Amino acid sequence: MRYDLVVIGTGPGGYVCAIRAAQLGLKTAVVEKRATQGGTCLNVGCIPSKALLHASEMFAAAAHDLPALGVKVGKPELDWAAMGKHRDDTVAANVNGVAYLFKKNKVDAFHGLGTIKGPGIVEVAKEDGSVETIETTSIVIATGSEVSTLPGMPVDEKTVVSSTGALVLSEVPKRMIVIGAGVIGLELGSVYRRLGAEVEVVEYLDRILPGLDGEVAKTFHRMLEKQGFAFHLGQKVSKVEPTNAGASVTFAPVAGGEERRLDADVVLVATGRRPNTDGLGLEAAGVATERGRVVIDDHFQTNVPGIYAIGDVVRGLMLAHKAEDEGVAVAEILAGQAGHVNYGVIPAVVYTMPEIASVGATEEELKTAGIPYTAGKFPYTANGRARAMRHTEGFVKVLAHAETDRVLGVHIIAAGAGELIQECSVLMEFGGSAEDLARTCHAHPTMSEAVKEAAMAVDKRAIHV
Ligand code: NAI
Repeated sequence: MRYDLVVIGTGPGGYVCAIRAAQLGLKTAVVEKRATQGGTCLNVGCIPSKALLHASEMFAAAAHDLPALGVKVGKPELDWAAMGKHRDDTVAANVNGVAYLFKKNKVDAFHGLGTIKGPGIVEVAKEDGSVETIETTSIVIATGSEVSTLPGMPVDEKTVVSSTGALVLSEVPKRMIVIGAGVIGLELGSVYRRLGAEVEVVEYLDRILPGLDGEVAKTFHRMLEKQGFAFHLGQKVSKVEPTNAGASVTFAPVAGGEERRLDADVVLVATGRRPNTDGLGLEAAGVATERGRVVIDDHFQTNVPGIYAIGDVVRGLMLAHKAEDEGVAVAEILAGQAGHVNYGVIPAVVYTMPEIASVGATEEELKTAGIPYTAGKFPYTANGRARAMRHTEGFVKVLAHAETDRVLGVHIIAAGAGELIQECSVLMEFGGSAEDLARTCHAHPTMSEAVKEAAMAVDKRAIHV
């Protein structure tokens, strides 16, 4: 068996890369150690969490929002098993979809742990103990990332859980402590808060959602408190221990001070992820890594010719769509085309309620870089559609270069922000200005009019505020 390309790992980076390569005529195979395709994102990440986020949002809306719209449904009852079935059905449809796409595109799928034996040779250790060797011209490492736990926080996936265990809890906990106020902590914390759990978040930094625009994060912090979240910021966790009723978390102020201990039924450790290179044989193959990440050049090639890497295992944001775009780019490069990723325009979305979506630079980044900018802001309280839907929380902020008017960043906190941000990405991809956005006719009444108005506000000419 000889292939043009073998992709190791079939998460969003790997499977998209394999399909694009096959489209371009490369004889392609994938190696995946999980029983199903789709990696963390489809099996135990983005997809199941969005199924639970949507279902729990509907549960909360039935209790709190529908009566005000004149829809009486009585006190909603949780059917946790049915919600779990929705999560599992969603995952199954997605992972089976990838398997179907492999067949359709004639991508051969090998199941087992892939190890690079040298340039052009991948060994697959199968579950039945047998080993198969595949020969190939190129190899793309797309092995993603895994939960990075900290010493003193032993995860058993029952009472002390990572994001993986948090998706399949046997019941909704009465009390949940989340360690880390990042994306995973706030998304999964939201699921259980909406279903009735008391949720307390312990965070090392003195803010939530590091990396996001400061004003957005501050606004969201207040919104989450209104939803019943409790935060302990600037706190260093020293240990997590199992107790009779669940687990306890001990922490103290980073700046020094007295230690505190909180007890809960479930503790979610959401303190980040690390690149997954276990068993890949990188050292033996001579592939260089830096702080755990595979080092690549501008064309995704490692220091070993013929071995490439993309996604969470390399530098940059650990986001599924960044990995997908890298997968397409490297496939095109291997097929002799000019694959390319614009890292300046990678949107990021936090799928909470309201959602947070951003693309481009934050105000803090522009200030640090000394780039002169003008901010245009528009609140959802002034948007007709938002009022009709009772989704008036939040705002849009457009940041444009003070001299050229080119849009440098957009930050949205609002219901449906994840969809609203995409027009801003397209605008930025084409190097558009705030005026371009402001002069583009937006349908009325839509939530997207707030994006247009924020662009108008850059020039201090918003109509509705
Ligand atoms: P994260 O890096 O977003 O947040 C981790 C948080 O934990 C940070 O605020 C950090 O300061 C805090 N922290 C670290 N050590 C701590 C300690 N000992 N005590 C208290 N706090 C501590 O990581 P997270 O949420 O685990 O997500 C992992 C990756 O997955 C991220 O790269 C994220 O972008 C990605 N992801 C993206 C999603 C999305 O785009 N919607 C959804 C879920 C994950």
